[in-house]
Amino acid sequence: MIILSPSVLGADFTKLGEQIAAVDRAGAEYIHLDVMDGSFVPSISFGMPVIASIRGCTGRIFDVHMMVEEPGRFVDDLKKAGADIVCVHQEACRHLDRTVNQIREAGMSPAVALNPATPVETLSCILPYVDMVLVMSVNPGFGGQKFIPYTLEKIRALRRMIDEQGLKCRIEIDGGVKLSNVEEILQAGADTIVVGSGVFSGDAEKNAADFMEIFRKYNA
Ligand code: DX5
Ligand code: ZN
Repeated sequence: MIILSPSVLGADFTKLGEQIAAVDRAGAEYIHLDVMDGSFVPSISFGMPVIASIRGCTGRIFDVHMMVEEPGRFVDDLKKAGADIVCVHQEACRHLDRTVNQIREAGMSPAVALNPATPVETLSCILPYVDMVLVMSVNPGFGGQKFIPYTLEKIRALRRMIDEQGLKCRIEIDGGVKLSNVEEILQAGADTIVVGSGVFSGDAEKNAADFMEIFRKYNA
């Protein structure tokens, strides 16, 4: 099943609750939450207090993208704040296996993210132990950037690795996804689609519904 994960980073923060309710009504199964530390990435976004406070706005799955150095330090805090999926960057974890295990042991679902220039082969050992791989299709840190086309080949390669090993791991794409390029991303093999500005610029409910309409074709 293709899943929409609207990225709250693109939302109007003065009406966060309303905006989350809008994408929830449109049928988005995940809510993508970008935590940034100003060190792994050049900007700072939001953290646990915001995640905990919006937990009351929706029952949807919280897909937390940790753009943070050594995110293993925050696993317990993420659990308390209401995270369901915790996605850590391969480039930010000195002991990726330990961090993935920590997330699983805390009762959450582990995922690993790769920057655009990090090859998918680096995941060959950890792939059986994660529930999702996030392929960054922009350099992480900001919404509204342009999709980097060579990441489509990474999705295809990852799809082959997952299928060859008979795994169930999801493939998430994040950055520069619009209605105009989402179909080629789906055809490459992604099944979990993060959209920030493409949903939250303008009417979030309608934009999310437009993505869901395309997904229905692929889910049929
Ligand atoms: C960027 C974040 C994304 C971002 C996507 O570092 O990881 O989730 O919000 O925004 P768009 O869809 O506008 O590229
Ligand atoms: Zn993200």
